[in-house]
Amino acid sequence: MIRVIGVSGSPHRHGNTETLLDAFLEGARGAGAEVEKVVLSTFAYTPCRGCNLCHRTGICVVKDDAVSLLERMAEADVLAVASPIYSMGVTAELKGLIDRAQYLWARRFVTNTLDYSPDHLARHRGVFLATAGSDWPGVFDASYPVVRALFSGLGFEYEENLVYDEMDRHGGVRGHPTALVEAAAAGRRAVETLEARQ
Ligand SMILES: Cc1cc2nc3c(=O)[nH]c(=O)nc-3n(C[C@H](O)[C@H](O)[C@H](O)COP(=O)(O)O)c2cc1C
Repeated sequence: MIRVIGVSGSPHRHGNTETLLDAFLEGARGAGAEVEKVVLSTFAYTPCRGCNLCHRTGICVVKDDAVSLLERMAEADVLAVASPIYSMGVTAELKGLIDRAQYLWARRFVTNTLDYSPDHLARHRGVFLATAGSDWPGVFDASYPVVRALFSGLGFEYEENLVYDEMDRHGGVRGHPTALVEAAAAGRRAVETLEARQ
């Protein structure tokens, strides 16, 4: 069975971003996947302290929820990461977790103890979901490379973006004409695409 994990970086429970993620996960569940949702604000982890010990060992020395969370995410077949845009980027909750994945970067590029084969990447797909209040051009642009860093560290091919701006004008994601339907369709598609490859 395809396993899908949805990670919400929004501290606002059941707001625009988590609702968009829920639609994606419902679509995936409807396609037969095993689905789990993780809400980052309910976990306890600190920002990376930059000690660089992981560059020697490939192991993060900070003992909190971050590493077990990242390991759970890595076990999924589809990783859906969702964030509202805060000050033109992803939230502190999500960026903090992504920084804590630095030990994976160290394994890949410093200790050379981690590599992902093309076959692994073909079977692990990453999707980014985001909402923004404004219609500012490029409002999502700063998020893409940050999310790419996470997918790259965890071994997921960056499949697609589902990003919706002008939440203020629409009165929230439920008032958006297509967002929730498109997210559900993307959830179904992500599962069906992987099933076709098995
Ligand atoms: C602290 C903060 C910063 C924000 N910064 C931006 C921003 O830079 N650009 C933008 O378009 N919207 C910004 N917004 C609006 C949110 O991105 C938007 O309302 C989003 O849909 C909220 O999702 P949520 O309901 O999951 O919290 C900001 C909201 C907050 C609370």
